[in-house]
Amino acid sequence: MTFSDEVRARLQVRSAQPPAPEPVRLPARRFVDRSFYEAERAEIFGKAWLLAGRLDEIARPGLYMTWEKTRVPLLVVHAVDDVIRCFYNSCRHRGAPVVRVPRGRNRALRCQYHSWTYDTSGKLVSVPDERDFVDLRREERGLVPVACEVRNSAIFVNEDPVADLNSFFGGTGRELSSVQSGELRTLDQRSVTIPVNWKRVMERLLSSPPVPPRPGASDLATTAADAELLDGGHLRIVAPFDAASASALGLASPLDWASLGDEGLPAVGGLDPMFLSTATTYVFFPNLFVTYTPGGIFNFTVWPGDEETTLLEATWLAPDWGEEDSPAEHPAWTERIEWAQARLEAVAAALAGAQDEMKEPARQGLSLQDDSEAVRLWNEALDAHLRGVVPADTLTGAVPGEVRSPLPS
Ligand code: FES
Repeated sequence: MTFSDEVRARLQVRSAQPPAPEPVRLPARRFVDRSFYEAERAEIFGKAWLLAGRLDEIARPGLYMTWEKTRVPLLVVHAVDDVIRCFYNSCRHRGAPVVRVPRGRNRALRCQYHSWTYDTSGKLVSVPDERDFVDLRREERGLVPVACEVRNSAIFVNEDPVADLNSFFGGTGRELSSVQSGELRTLDQRSVTIPVNWKRVMERLLSSPPVPPRPGASDLATTAADAELLDGGHLRIVAPFDAASASALGLASPLDWASLGDEGLPAVGGLDPMFLSTATTYVFFPNLFVTYTPGGIFNFTVWPGDEETTLLEATWLAPDWGEEDSPAEHPAWTERIEWAQARLEAVAAALAGAQDEMKEPARQGLSLQDDSEAVRLWNEALDAHLRGVVPADTLTGAVPGEVRSPLPS
């Protein structure tokens, strides 16, 4: 039995007998405490594989980009030996940023302060007036590397030096091994900054995962999803279309999956019929949503700026269009890009004022309650990294006080 057969079997049981919801309590302090946020930065964002970009952003040797989504200044380089490398963007002389422009191309990286120069492998290759530096050993003063791997043209970085990307993906990597996502290219990226804790944004997206429009079927509706926790804290969320939407797409019934295409668009290769016939999203721990459609892949990424600010990014990936004009003007893509913008605005609007509400003294010591299985599973995965580091009464399910209010729906 394949994983998609197992999902379909669970969805059949679920549609015959909907399970009773298992509400989860989320102590308010986990959304507002500075110390909780600092623990997340150290234990989660400091140790997880994070999506830093795609190969098409630094496609040629010598191209580089700075990357500071976690507030740690990093530098991602397409080295002249064709290896993608990441370093702390901090000069080994006095710590100044080696690179100051967000993107550029050069065979050497020269710090503007006193012109220490590094090659694209991070080696210190030139120091002006070197004889003035007694005991300087160049081989000990290269740029400090950060773990960096490319998977299907996606660039992942991890500050944890012992991290292994294959173990991080675990079984998810096997499920997705046939998807030809390496042949995709960034078609559109946009973002919004929301004045709210990042977990509120995550929970909003988890309880209502993306349902992108398809050509000729812009208003698709889904029914109750199957959410499964996978190795490494990742989630697979599969929401079948309702009967009307399934019919609009040409399916005989919501669980009668077929190899659908997106009319007029080149197809993403290797997608399981389940991905084509449902709204399927993988949530890679901690902050990356990947939603599949026949003609493109949609990503949300959620980046905490601090404990009360979040950057939400929306990215559309399309099959590589080579030297042709970007397909962004195709009506199907225009509709999808507008949909992505509307989703960003809708999330921001739904969470307007939420952080101030959470900070009210009367709310401290209380819990929010949420009925979404995906929200519960994701928060439990998060807490697996924080148990013993944050106060026990801030963990998922703790009952610090009265349950006051649900998350806004
Ligand atoms: S701080 Fe970079 S060369 Fe001095």
